[in-house]
Amino acid sequence: MPSLTQSPAWLALQAHQSVMAQQHLRSLFQQDPQRFEKFSLLFNDILLDYSKQPVDQETINLLLALARQQKLSDWIERMFAGEKINSTEQRAALHIALRSEQPVHVDGIDVLPEVKRVLKQMERFTIAVHSGARRGYTGKMFTDIVNIGIGGSDLGPVMVTEALKPYQLNSITPHFISNIDGAQLSATLCHLNPETTLFIIASKTFTTQETLTNAHAARTWFLAHGGGEQDIAQHFVAVSTNRTAVEKFGIDPDNMFEFWDWVGGRYSLWSAIGLPIALAVSMDNFYALLAGARAMDQHFATAPLEKNLPVMLGLIGIWQINFFATSSHAVLPYDQSLHRFPAYLQQLEMESNGKRITRDGEAVDYATGAVVWGEPGTNGQHAFYQLLHQGTQTVSADFLAPCQSHYPVGDHHRMLLANFFAQTEALMTGKNAQEVRAELAALGMNADALEQLLPHKIFPGNRPTTSILFKKLDPETLGALIALYEHKVFVQSVIWNINPFDQWGVELGKQLAGKILAELQQDSAVTSHDASTNGLIGYFRANQ
Ligand code: F6P
Repeated sequence: MPSLTQSPAWLALQAHQSVMAQQHLRSLFQQDPQRFEKFSLLFNDILLDYSKQPVDQETINLLLALARQQKLSDWIERMFAGEKINSTEQRAALHIALRSEQPVHVDGIDVLPEVKRVLKQMERFTIAVHSGARRGYTGKMFTDIVNIGIGGSDLGPVMVTEALKPYQLNSITPHFISNIDGAQLSATLCHLNPETTLFIIASKTFTTQETLTNAHAARTWFLAHGGGEQDIAQHFVAVSTNRTAVEKFGIDPDNMFEFWDWVGGRYSLWSAIGLPIALAVSMDNFYALLAGARAMDQHFATAPLEKNLPVMLGLIGIWQINFFATSSHAVLPYDQSLHRFPAYLQQLEMESNGKRITRDGEAVDYATGAVVWGEPGTNGQHAFYQLLHQGTQTVSADFLAPCQSHYPVGDHHRMLLANFFAQTEALMTGKNAQEVRAELAALGMNADALEQLLPHKIFPGNRPTTSILFKKLDPETLGALIALYEHKVFVQSVIWNINPFDQWGVELGKQLAGKILAELQQDSAVTSHDASTNGLIGYFRANQ
């Protein structure tokens, strides 16, 4: 087998890139009025338009050839079949089982009954909290839930509860504490009443320092503000795969919601990690979220590669990252409700595909995952779009927006979408010297001043964007959108021959932090590190 970068499909794409790089997106649109129809896909309510990417039919054929060369269809089957494709941890990667209605097997055992059992447990609990059957220690109904977790035990639930704010119940307010910085804990708890606050300690491993420290602090706060030891069981529940550690923490296993090692942290919002979502928006809406993801799963598993949204989204990313050397990718939701979507995708994409060793243990000689970032439009327009339009580096971008708003205020939504369409069009077409000249001349500018200003007002255009429009941000659509990105990440990992389901890269910092914490607690000078780290620790200790 030749290496990926020497393989026929890769070399063909490289040769083709040098042709496509000569063409401006504007001229591709001029040459082909059918471009939108040819390079867009529709799945249920979700429209994926990649016609503003530097592709023609040959590009798509070559990208599909690369996918076939890398045996993408086999890998999709292997994931759905529950194979241990997380090879470095010897685990299956079965977030799809969490939203399945069909049996899914791990080691020959159908996990669906267990999945359904925990969903039922969540349903009973949610209904009990909402109805008041389960109350706080003084008999008052719960009004606030505080999820204590970090990474995958935080980002998914935060993003979804924010995205589904229009579906939130008035009676319950969700809060999230993730950071070890006491600022977040203090700012959250100072407004809460322990009598009406329910804590969810969410940690797959139940060993994460930030989460356990925050959980102990919350417990201390609860006891210091009127709660008693005997009330802990009523006010603290846990979501984890680690029953022993949950018990050791002091939470009754009856108040534990289980999930399994075949659920990756950043893929876990569909499991009991979604409990704060269900409590905030109701279990019915949580089921609808699962149904939306399930529909996308079925599409991913069965649609031909060229009609498959996650496959095409993934391949377009490969085209940008590996053949146009685009290392920065912006996610720009034109929907305030999706304001945490870029942060959520940062973990999904960068923790999954931020890898440099292949499944075979070799160092890669090609780029993997891009740097993902973003902000909601139109705020981003007034912050960083200048660089997108006229900066020296190319940033690829996904623009997302609903056709209908949950907040019908005047003409706001049309104005928002007008900005979406204007930005994607402007990034694509740009504005050339001739157009700028005509524009300035029409303003009556004299020739000298015009020539001086001219270069500043030229927009190169040809900036690649993908547009994702959907009807309305309801739970089903959100579920499908998230699953779209989960599978996109998987597609890219298959092309790159890396394992997207482990995260060894976050370990080193964790280990060192443990050692340094012990040093911060001692009296003697710290000299065991490099000069910079010793110096920083010294300055901190002198000024703490
Ligand atoms: O950041 C590393 C990580 O392991 C993530 O993958 C995970 O989502 C997060 O920490 C939290 O882990 P846990 O749910 O085990 O507390």
